[in-house]
Amino acid sequence: MSTTPLLAEQLVDDPRVAEARKLIHAALDEQRAKLTGVKPADPARKQSYDATLEQFSQQRGGSLWYPYLGSGFGSGPFVELADGSVKYDMIAGIGVHFFGHSHPAFVDASLDAALTDTLMQGALQQNADSAKLTDSIIQLANASGAKLNHCYLTTSGAMANENAFKIAFQKASRDGKPADRMLAFQGTFCGRTLALSSMSDKPNNRVGLPHALKVDYVPFYDETDPEGSTKRSVDRLKEYLKRWPKHYAGFKFELIQGEGGFYPGTTDYFMALIEILKNEGVAVIADEIQTFCRTSRPFAFQHFGLDEHMDLVNVGKSTQVCFTLFTDEYKPQPGLIAQTFTGASSSIKAAQFVIDTFANGDLYERDGKEGKVMTLSNRFRGRIQAIAEKHPDWVSGPYGLGAMIAFQPFDGTIDDAKAVCTDLYENGVVGFLCGREKARVRFLPSVPALTDAHIDAVCDILEASLERVSKTRG
Ligand SMILES: Cc1ncc(COP(=O)(O)O)c(C=O)c1O
Repeated sequence: MSTTPLLAEQLVDDPRVAEARKLIHAALDEQRAKLTGVKPADPARKQSYDATLEQFSQQRGGSLWYPYLGSGFGSGPFVELADGSVKYDMIAGIGVHFFGHSHPAFVDASLDAALTDTLMQGALQQNADSAKLTDSIIQLANASGAKLNHCYLTTSGAMANENAFKIAFQKASRDGKPADRMLAFQGTFCGRTLALSSMSDKPNNRVGLPHALKVDYVPFYDETDPEGSTKRSVDRLKEYLKRWPKHYAGFKFELIQGEGGFYPGTTDYFMALIEILKNEGVAVIADEIQTFCRTSRPFAFQHFGLDEHMDLVNVGKSTQVCFTLFTDEYKPQPGLIAQTFTGASSSIKAAQFVIDTFANGDLYERDGKEGKVMTLSNRFRGRIQAIAEKHPDWVSGPYGLGAMIAFQPFDGTIDDAKAVCTDLYENGVVGFLCGREKARVRFLPSVPALTDAHIDAVCDILEASLERVSKTRG
């Protein structure tokens, strides 16, 4: 039966709106075309930029890691700062701006959202967009055998983790074995709520906080000792399960450690642990907040072929809206999860673009053909490897997997890594730190926006930075 267009549809289809959109895109294209390379700050802006930074630092209660205040404009990997400088953004909001800056589809998402009735969507009242997005995410997640038939939207990675852990605890209680402990890898990072600060393996994230969650840590895979490290992890897991029988709700997996230093595991390694967890009825939870979209497949669990073993999966960052996926078995009871905000209207529209592009484009492996994410990331890695081979005293690596790219400057001290980050920043490349015992510099590049020429330019700046820092070391 034909229906009368809704008022919302009539507004979107109004020719005046189409005309306005055309004009906005023409202006956007014109400005984007001007951003073609790194640029130093405008001296005339320095004084007011520094004053704003100083005031902002005071008012927020602590200084910023970088003296970074964006102008609100960029183009692909380039970002313009409020001091007039232009930089290559190789950290992209720690993995958020996967499609690069000022992407036309994200501008459209904001324009479309601007025409809707509310800025935010929530658990009680949400637009039909949320239902469509949820369905698209589930289809993407279940493309190769996972049974993650449910998806709950949320506003941060931390909330996605919180929701997953609550679901896992409640399931254990429903099964008559109320649990009070979680398992995770040494070096894990989960987010910054009170409970997650207890779980993240970063002591300085919990200075002065009460211990809110009981967590036991299993050592992660060591690629220099695959058999030995697998045995050590399996032994440790068995030891915990014996010491605390029926106490564990879940094991939180980071399939490639993020904040911990960009260490990937392997399918065999993960399966050795998963088999034990399945036998014990402990939930297998993949935290894909940093790994999502950065390997050969949209989900890292798909890259590692772990699809059918996933009980809960958390995603954030590049998706613009965060979410927790779970199987039928893990459906929570009413009242366990709900939120005033599940996402901004613009984020939900942008997320639809992200998920559709991942499902249909050439970014990921399809019909045996390697996707663009791995091809470009491997090229990036190749360039870093060439620098490391030429100057083994300056840098080792690359580390990580796919579009999680890291390298270790010099001896891997935190001072070395900070010095390289600072020099890179001053010379037009934004990266960031990761790692524990050994400090690394990481890049989470906006792969779909990258060209070979960008990669070469960034690596030339990196080589020059390493050389400069090498001269200033004692
Ligand atoms: C693996 C992992 N989990 C959770 C989080 C927390 O996400 P958010 O900062 O959006 O709360 C992060 C953030 O870096 C992460 O890398």
